[in-house]
Amino acid sequence: MVKEKATDLQDIVSHCKKLGFIYQSSEIYGGLSAVYDYGPYGILLKNNIKEYWWKAMVQMNENIVGLDAAIFMDPKVWKASGHTDAFNDPLIDNKDSKKRYRADQLIEDYIQNKIQKKIDKDVAKGKKRFGDSFDKEQFLATDKRSLERQQKIDSILNRMNNALNAADLDDVKQLIVDLGIVCPHSGSKNWTDVRQFNLMFSTQGGGATSEDVLYLRPETAQGIFVNFLNVLNTSRQKIPFGIAQIGKAFRNEIVARQFVFRMREFEQMEMQFFVRPGDQMKFYEFWKEARMKWHLALGTAADKLKYHNHEALAHYADAALDIEFKFPFGFKELEGIHSRTDFDLKAHQELSGKKIQYFDPELKESYIPYVVETSIGCDRMFLALLSDAYHAEMVPDAKGGMDERIVLKIHPSVAPVKCAVLPLVRSNEELTNKASEIFDAIKYSFNCQYDEKGSIGKRYRRQDELGTPFCITIDGQSLEDNTVTIRERDSMKQERVSVELIEKIVSEGVDMRNLLKQL
Ligand code: GAP
Repeated sequence: MVKEKATDLQDIVSHCKKLGFIYQSSEIYGGLSAVYDYGPYGILLKNNIKEYWWKAMVQMNENIVGLDAAIFMDPKVWKASGHTDAFNDPLIDNKDSKKRYRADQLIEDYIQNKIQKKIDKDVAKGKKRFGDSFDKEQFLATDKRSLERQQKIDSILNRMNNALNAADLDDVKQLIVDLGIVCPHSGSKNWTDVRQFNLMFSTQGGGATSEDVLYLRPETAQGIFVNFLNVLNTSRQKIPFGIAQIGKAFRNEIVARQFVFRMREFEQMEMQFFVRPGDQMKFYEFWKEARMKWHLALGTAADKLKYHNHEALAHYADAALDIEFKFPFGFKELEGIHSRTDFDLKAHQELSGKKIQYFDPELKESYIPYVVETSIGCDRMFLALLSDAYHAEMVPDAKGGMDERIVLKIHPSVAPVKCAVLPLVRSNEELTNKASEIFDAIKYSFNCQYDEKGSIGKRYRRQDELGTPFCITIDGQSLEDNTVTIRERDSMKQERVSVELIEKIVSEGVDMRNLLKQL
């Protein structure tokens, strides 16, 4: 019997620190807020996530090519894209606590804590009362109290979005006042006015451009747009085709919280798909499905992923949605799919004076392509993967009692370590020599780890905590008949196999093709 305990964000943060997945930046100096470093196992997992994304995009699609653009770009890029003038967050300060908040997040938190939670509570009560026969959709569509609460949520969001879109910051503040929102720290309603704060980090150009200021890119997408012609002219691609890129992005997030969910320096995996004007909705639907499949192939429970359509569209988009994941702190954006029209290429054409057009040989006409974008944060994906994989289970121990086992049930194809080689005891040189031989023979094929320190039970637990799919144990019998036991992480089942079969069993179990074939 296996019993499970619910996971909260602190479990994930502590696990990451303890195991060497993620450390806070500059920790010995007290830690730099919202910036993180990936440790020995973190970098392995992060690289595997990137490899899975890259292969799913570039290797699996003959009409998608890769790019690695520089972080620094001509500042005019950000003028054209709208970031210099409009990449802002609305900020508000509480005069008593001196704490600074994003005004829209204060309002969203109010909705979540004061209204949405009540709806969820009534749903939970209904479920408890009626069991399997409870129909949540029907309940939400007919229950008077829930309908009133939903209407209230819609009306608040509507007012907030209208005020933000119209840059009416006075009304954003008035909404906070009207709702009676208090500062989570001081409990006071003593607010400053709301004002805009640009999220781009800037630095001196050092003569690199004619301008003085250089920006650290806030998204990787613009590197793709400004290279559209270069790639078109050198890659023999025809529309529809895509350009994919993985790289760092920087945003001076004011309210950085929830670990690697919102960072100041992070990594994006973005793909811009260039299409004929008018075809954008077809490809928007295509990429919406394709990206959901990518997530589901990892074994993530379907009820932890959902689409969230954007009600208020950015001025350059004609459709947009988020793929949301159920993080320990609720459903939040994991990935964005945006139909960006011809906004970016057109803006770069206008400001650069360079014709950015595509001659369509079938239509025999030139046009500025439309763009469908898929954009996911690598770090946010890391957090989603760990949140889904982390399990605290009570399992039977050798003495007939129960013991807690922390296990990362990560898909074997992206697990940081694929296989651990464990001599049963380290005092027996014959066993350790045999184990080293096995390690040396299989290390060419996948990432494995040799460990001889501590009891075998403790070593299994450590590998479970790392998410290692296979443990190979070398015991007395191994010396007699050249067999070992191979233990599978999730079931904890052990099987005795010949040494010659280890490489084949592990290679097949961790092969990334297992993921790619599901797409
Ligand atoms: N090019 C479009 C774009 O950048 P976005 O919704 O601002 O769109 C895309 O960002 C994705 O990048 C998000 O869905 C999220 O996964 C990730 N992301 C954005 N800001 C982030 C931050 N401060 N920390 C970590 N990840 C972030």
